[in-house]
Amino acid sequence: MISEKMKYMVANGSAIRAMFEEGNRLIKLYGAENVFDFSLGNPNVPAPESVKSALIEIVEETDPIVLHGYTSNSGYADVREAVAESLNKRFGTNFAGKNIIMTVGAAGGLNVILKTLLNPEDEVLTFAPYFVEYRSYVANFGGKLIEVSPNAPTFQPKLDEFEQKITPKTKAVIVNTPNNPTGVVYSEDTIQKMAAILEAKQKEYGTEIYLISDEPYRELVYDGVEVPYLTKYYDNTIVGYSYSKSLSLPGERIGYLVIPDEVTDSELVVAAATVANRVLGFVNAPTLQQKLVAKCLYEETDLTYYNRNREALYGGLKECGFECIKPEGAFYLFVKSPVANEKEFCEAGKKYNILMVPGSSFACPGYVRLAYCVSYETIMNSLPKFKELAKEYF
Ligand SMILES: Cc1ncc(COP(=O)(O)O)c(C=O)c1O
Repeated sequence: MISEKMKYMVANGSAIRAMFEEGNRLIKLYGAENVFDFSLGNPNVPAPESVKSALIEIVEETDPIVLHGYTSNSGYADVREAVAESLNKRFGTNFAGKNIIMTVGAAGGLNVILKTLLNPEDEVLTFAPYFVEYRSYVANFGGKLIEVSPNAPTFQPKLDEFEQKITPKTKAVIVNTPNNPTGVVYSEDTIQKMAAILEAKQKEYGTEIYLISDEPYRELVYDGVEVPYLTKYYDNTIVGYSYSKSLSLPGERIGYLVIPDEVTDSELVVAAATVANRVLGFVNAPTLQQKLVAKCLYEETDLTYYNRNREALYGGLKECGFECIKPEGAFYLFVKSPVANEKEFCEAGKKYNILMVPGSSFACPGYVRLAYCVSYETIMNSLPKFKELAKEYF
């Protein structure tokens, strides 16, 4: 028989995945053009052309024994150095290859760093709404996820509550900006205040509190908004990055962790994270993808496609009478449900073949998430349906 913990997880499966399956069922019944599936954050902009040519070049030019062989658990040395150099150029940081660990996407990186840091019963703080998998990732290592409640309608972090919830057991804080599911970007002022709170609490308790910046959406920002690079504001910062969204490579499972020298016991943290990568069974990040991202470090994400979707969906929903803030980043809209129970609203949407994810999946009931990484036609064709849906409420 499977474990008790897994029994619970199987019984409480992901609402997002369930919605995705529902989308496939509806497509079979009504045809893809009549189904408006806003459930999944799967990029629909193809990877840049340069990705394809780089892949071909790598396969043709690299000794296959090297290319497809095991590598160091932290990744190829030349790739780690190239990543560090690109970050230094962009953000004025001072990283070297030794500060970088190549990971199996952001999800792999988060699991590696949580395994590295957590003792059982350690607390990890995060701000609701948040990426639902954080709960599982923290539980994987016996930690406890502590939520700071949502700050509607702006969804900027509630720093007073944050400060109150830090205890001597707080080992880490996970922030995600640009944010899934709200699209909110935390301002420099917010980050400075958060850093000051963490410094003071570290001193008060004589502990280390690690700030983990989960950044798969770093490149997806609109209207020239700046996303502060968090290692510059607080020494005990660890960055988890991913190419899933920026290069549209979610299935390839490639990303990295940055563990700067300024992190307390940095060398030991790097050594432990390297072992964690191995013993969690990742062994090393996919070798072909490591070589690929090293060739595409200066590739810029084309945002025009997502931006057009953002404008069309945001404008269209506001016109219907729905309430939501305009997202500054990522590819999600977080819309206030017109009824308190947002699951009811999601069910009502299904009558029009509109699929949305309930906010309770992100610890924020009363809202729904729409992923606008869909075709522009899907958005335009969905708007009359949203109008009909709105008529049920306004
Ligand atoms: C906030 C957040 N963190 C982490 C991940 C995992 O990303 P990856 O595909 O790089 O593992 C996602 C994926 O959607 C996400 O939204």
